[in-house]
Amino acid sequence: MKPLIGKRILVCGKGGSGKSSIVALLAQVFQSNDYPVLLIDGDASNPGGLIRLMTGDTISPQPLIEYFGGREKVMCPVDDPSPLTRTDDSRSLVDEHIRLSEIPPEYYIRKNNIILFQVGKIQKAYEGCDGPMSKITRDFIVEGNHLTLIDVEAGIEHFGRGIEKNVDVVLIVVNPVFESFEVARRVHELSKSMGIKHTLTILNAVRDPDTEQIMKRNLSANGIDIAGSVSYDEEIFKSGIEGKEIGYCNAFDEIGYIVTKLETLYNHD
Ligand SMILES: Nc1ncnc2c1ncn2[C@@H]1O[C@H](COP(=O)(O)OP(=O)(O)OP(=O)(O)O)[C@@H](O)[C@H]1O
Ligand SMILES: [Mg+2]
Repeated sequence: MKPLIGKRILVCGKGGSGKSSIVALLAQVFQSNDYPVLLIDGDASNPGGLIRLMTGDTISPQPLIEYFGGREKVMCPVDDPSPLTRTDDSRSLVDEHIRLSEIPPEYYIRKNNIILFQVGKIQKAYEGCDGPMSKITRDFIVEGNHLTLIDVEAGIEHFGRGIEKNVDVVLIVVNPVFESFEVARRVHELSKSMGIKHTLTILNAVRDPDTEQIMKRNLSANGIDIAGSVSYDEEIFKSGIEGKEIGYCNAFDEIGYIVTKLETLYNHD
């Protein structure tokens, strides 16, 4: 069995560091390495977000928050830390993982061997915080032999809600901005405090070796492991500005190296 099957990898970092782009690329490289991939767009703010980068479309799957009964049924994990349950009974998804066959097809999009979900987006003024969506991100665990990749909102608020509780690996996307190193340092500390075994960074949008050295020096000084680097890539930039799907680009090779590095975490376990 592939070493990362059954694992949940959460991708976080400073706003605009490239989290969603990296998740979209990781999904495609994992798929080409024979991993069935389950993608969760856990960012309640960005309207298109990950789904658009994956499909080039603004048509999203129905939000999972609706499937689980909306805000009336799902509470922010800070107010109600109890696990997410099925809609028709009280079985927790953490204890008894949900099967894909239980979920109506309008709640996901299938693209080859990748399945995309979105937890929900803020739609109306005064509707409340995105805490209920965070509980879904935390506990939506689907049974089966796949790898789960989770894209979350910028910053560290999700740690305040403990959505990393059911995560095996935290990947921090760091771009060449000082504040991004600071966010990485905080995330690293918070991950450690939660007992998460593997927390690594991906250096993103690296333009030259000198920049890469500065980034590496800063992160190493804080004892943070680096999974690899992704160069500044015109194709990624273009898909970002045009709102298009990220397809094959030079970054695939760099992401391939990162995937191999992540696999070694579990080869040695
Ligand atoms: N390696 C790269 N090379 C060139 N451009 C990049 C690279 N990575 C990301 N970008 C660009 O940076 C911008 C932000 O990327 P992205 O939306 O993936 O970041 P994010 O961290 O998910 O943002 P947010 O915090 O809003 O969720 C986009 O325009 C994207 O195209
Ligand atoms: Mg994003």
